[in-house]
Amino acid sequence: MDRRGFVKLCAGSTAWLAASMHDARASGYTDFPKVRLTDPQGAPLRASTLAKDEAYVFHFPFRSLPCFLIDLGKPASGPQELTSESGSYTWPGGVGKDKSLVAYVAVCTHQLSYTASDGSQIRYAAGTSALAGRPGTIVCCAHASVFDPAKGAQREHGEARNPLLSVRLEYEPEEDSLYATGLAGTELVERFFKTYRRELIAEYGPGVYREPVGAAAAAVLLSKYASSVSDC
Ligand code: FES
Repeated sequence: MDRRGFVKLCAGSTAWLAASMHDARASGYTDFPKVRLTDPQGAPLRASTLAKDEAYVFHFPFRSLPCFLIDLGKPASGPQELTSESGSYTWPGGVGKDKSLVAYVAVCTHQLSYTASDGSQIRYAAGTSALAGRPGTIVCCAHASVFDPAKGAQREHGEARNPLLSVRLEYEPEEDSLYATGLAGTELVERFFKTYRRELIAEYGPGVYREPVGAAAAAVLLSKYASSVSDC
């Protein structure tokens, strides 16, 4: 893992974040400061109340990095050994009462199509999509890639080769609440920042897009977050 390059990328306003993160070598995940997921009003998200027919969008661990939170409505069994461009890691499976909650970075591992407020070519298709031919997949309409969120977002078919970047979730049963705590690698994030620097500065401001999201991140339904969502 080219951690030196990533730390350099995070220099300046996010230096504290780079200093605080470290490799979780046992699992292949990189730890980030724990972020509580909330509803759009800032109240703690209640995992048992999540919709199951659509993904939620939240940002983690940086203000501009979009992620999907999905309740699959059925257990997502782990662990599974997977490999991304950052190396191998152990995807732990779903969390929550029914082990049905998963989260992934909403940036396609093929050519980095991503979820933005002005549109998304990538989405969770709870029902059968034309592209996947079955329910319960993540589809990227940019070049027709399909990922299986119940199996660590491994590529099912299409142009992409690597799984979507996994976001590690923690579930607290007493509060029925969720936290994001890590990423299965950081190389994709570095490429995302470099590729879309101009667009991210325009949306978030210079430097702001690389700032840590803070102690809490709001999760919003994709249909409310993005002005248009591709259907394929
Ligand atoms: S960017 Fe997603 S399939 Fe090409």
